[in-house]
Amino acid sequence: MADGHYRVFVALWPDDEVADALFALSAGLQTHAGGRRMRRETLHLTLAFIGDVPQARLPDLQTALATVQGRSFVLRVDQLAWWSHNQIVWAGVSMVPPELTQLATAVRAALTSAGFGFAEHGTFVPHLTLMRKARPPGELAQSAPIDWAVRSFVLVASTPSAAGSAYTQLAEWALG
Ligand code: 2AM
Repeated sequence: MADGHYRVFVALWPDDEVADALFALSAGLQTHAGGRRMRRETLHLTLAFIGDVPQARLPDLQTALATVQGRSFVLRVDQLAWWSHNQIVWAGVSMVPPELTQLATAVRAALTSAGFGFAEHGTFVPHLTLMRKARPPGELAQSAPIDWAVRSFVLVASTPSAAGSAYTQLAEWALG
């Protein structure tokens, strides 16, 4: 927290087993792409990046997110890619489950009706950042798909640290 503000976002957070499998995807990438490998405990999929929120507004934010109705689903992570605009290597999905689209839409609608802004860059592309400040890695080897049973979503605060951002879960809501 800085100046009574929290830097927050809404995300899907993998359990330990899925986080291990996702982390394994970035093993060896440093050789091809350089950059900084995301630590296992930081891996996540962002649904909406809100940014700085005054501490006093956190209860309203949590009340708004608690109204979101979503359904559990399985996310098959089966792709690796690199983006030039932010120089990340990320893991993604070739098929976006309708439940994920609905959840992201519902989260964003709840934020808007409660007066919270969030970053929007056109279409929502679900992704998990694996490497930052990476070069184009050339051919990215695709590995076996990871099936992630998504049963909740979380509100997370981000704090800068020497080792990259540290994340703290502020609240979690179950999916039906
Ligand atoms: P990234 O991994 O693609 O950089 C915490 O920083 C999370 O919020 C990360 O998942 C990050 O996405 C995302 N994030 C940070 N700033 C953002 C922005 N301006 N727009 C969208 N997502 C952002």
